[in-house]
Amino acid sequence: MNPLKRLGRRRASVLALLAVAGLVTPAAATAAPDTVRASTLGAQAAQSGRYFGTAVAAGRLGDGTYTGILDREFNSVTPENEMKWDTIERSRGSFNFGPGDQIANRAAARGQRLRGHTLVWHQQLPSWVSSIRDANTLRGVMNNHITQVMNHYKGKVYAWDVVNEAFADGGSGQTRSSVFRDVLGTGFIEEAFRSARSADPSAKLCYNDYNIENWSDAKTQGVYRMVRDFKARGVPIDCVGLQSHFGAGGPPAGFQTTLSNFAALGVDVQITELDIAQAPTAAYANTVRACMNVARCTGITVWGIRDSDSWRSGENPLLFDRNGNKKPAYQSTLTALGGSAATRRTGAPSPRSAAALPSSFRWSSSGALIAPKPDATHNIAGIKDPSVVYYNGKYHVFASTASSAGYNLVYLSFSDWSQAGSATHHYLDRTPIGAGYRAAPQVFYNTQQRLWYLVYQTGNASYSTNPDISNPSGWSAPRNFYSSMPDIIRQNIGNGYWVDMWVICDSANCYLFSSDDNGHLYRSQTTVGQFPNGFTNTVIAAQDSKYALFEASNVYKVQGSNQYLLLVEAIGSDGRRYFRSWTASSLAGSWSPLAASESNPFAKSSNVTFPAGTWTRDISHGEMIRAGYDQTLTIPACKLQYLYQGKDPNAGGDYNSLPWRLGLLTQTNSTC
Ligand code: XIL
Repeated sequence: MNPLKRLGRRRASVLALLAVAGLVTPAAATAAPDTVRASTLGAQAAQSGRYFGTAVAAGRLGDGTYTGILDREFNSVTPENEMKWDTIERSRGSFNFGPGDQIANRAAARGQRLRGHTLVWHQQLPSWVSSIRDANTLRGVMNNHITQVMNHYKGKVYAWDVVNEAFADGGSGQTRSSVFRDVLGTGFIEEAFRSARSADPSAKLCYNDYNIENWSDAKTQGVYRMVRDFKARGVPIDCVGLQSHFGAGGPPAGFQTTLSNFAALGVDVQITELDIAQAPTAAYANTVRACMNVARCTGITVWGIRDSDSWRSGENPLLFDRNGNKKPAYQSTLTALGGSAATRRTGAPSPRSAAALPSSFRWSSSGALIAPKPDATHNIAGIKDPSVVYYNGKYHVFASTASSAGYNLVYLSFSDWSQAGSATHHYLDRTPIGAGYRAAPQVFYNTQQRLWYLVYQTGNASYSTNPDISNPSGWSAPRNFYSSMPDIIRQNIGNGYWVDMWVICDSANCYLFSSDDNGHLYRSQTTVGQFPNGFTNTVIAAQDSKYALFEASNVYKVQGSNQYLLLVEAIGSDGRRYFRSWTASSLAGSWSPLAASESNPFAKSSNVTFPAGTWTRDISHGEMIRAGYDQTLTIPACKLQYLYQGKDPNAGGDYNSLPWRLGLLTQTNSTC
């Protein structure tokens, strides 16, 4: 039979699911390929859903060694001084955002997160503020400062240090004397957090302090009591920053206990200003390990790049020496983050070029790892179109279930690929997502809205949201991105189908891609602030003949580079599915071929080996294993992995009844 007669048919089905006992035997899971190990701090932290950041000084951004390390190693930045009161509002009501903007815009352009530091602090505070004696005046000044600054950086700052260093050292466990405490009382902290929440409801709000790392210290206990009280009374607070300016001994013995005790109050914890006198390898490793061991420890920031950049430069407390070379503590930090301890050799490719993708690919495939699990009410022939994120120590996989009766969605999670075959399948037709035609899911976390999004096709482009990815019943009922099919699609779709909706955002805009099984890739856009509403300006982003640009497009940001990667599924001259690839320097840009032909494909049976046995000749609809899980869809540049659908090469018949299974490709020609 001509395989082209068996093309995708993903129409809404009016048939109810048939209650037929399952006859499909799950394929045996094979040994899982190694998990990705990254070679930079940020990429490695991202493997566990964390960030690794640094303090940045605007005045050093002209130094190429500095920015080279900054962009290679770090995926979060904190302005070291540029967002402090004495820079931003040196005189009353006159705001100077220039230096802060320089850092913020630079970070946004590179997909790095931004921590805002800091709104209310007794230091680096202009004397016009510290000399105020009238409570109403000071309250107005404080709230205005918070509101103006947070408004200016709305949507750009991931977390704000709303109040910094409000507690006293020593044994009191009380707040310290400052103009804020002395004029407004200790309630100034609560007032600052409430103003901050109303100024930018989507930024995380942190309390930040030093000497709160040792659990038994009175200061730690004082801050803990405050956070517990805030949570109990509903005062908005999302995180506690532990500065972690350590002596040569490193963190106190109970550091991890402190992190987990704060986290247990229902806040994230972050290490916000790490530096350690003389940078002993073990001290750095112990600090990082404590964070890695606490699920809600979401990231680590070191307070500067090279020793010469440090506010404690006499103590050489950082990860890079004065010449920008990695110090031994760099390796122990990377290893503690779970990364490879291998040092880059001199003369090896520079990190910048190493971050770029190669122009041809080779892969090794697992066997079929995930097969459908039909039950009494779900008669399923194939599991298809996977979307996957690694979050909180688990892979979370969403996929289509297919049968002659139509399509719906399924969710499963597991900690390791060797467990994938035994994971429970949660059918999403019994959730608010509902029954009926739902297919080809894509999952990501929207950091601004703090919500998971599941994007899928229903005949329109639809989505559901969920605050908790691990709760299948938490998804909202489907809503549509468009009121109806955009005109340009209607005009070009011919006899095709509107399928495979895909959302990706940069720092300014979100883009919605889709395919038509007729040679067109479409793209609409909206702003990050308006998302999920306002998708407009639908254009043809790429076109080719029907089978050369068929469906299942994926678009990703390549970590550590300014490259975006586009993959589109094609049908080869042998009738088998394969992927072509292109790159672009912006999401709205034009796509240049990377490995885009049948003879040099991105992934096809011809460039994949099957050590566990050739169970498929199709490399069909799938998704890359990402470096993170947010709306930027960032993938590592090295040792790519791709979760895809394949099937028994001898299977035929109705497309919807084909026995699709999921397998994992691991890149074997990575040069970095
Ligand atoms: C430091 C900066 O690193 C210096 O450049 C500046 O002169 C003083 O402030 N706790 C904090 C940081 O919250 O803002 C401080 O940063 C270090 C201590």
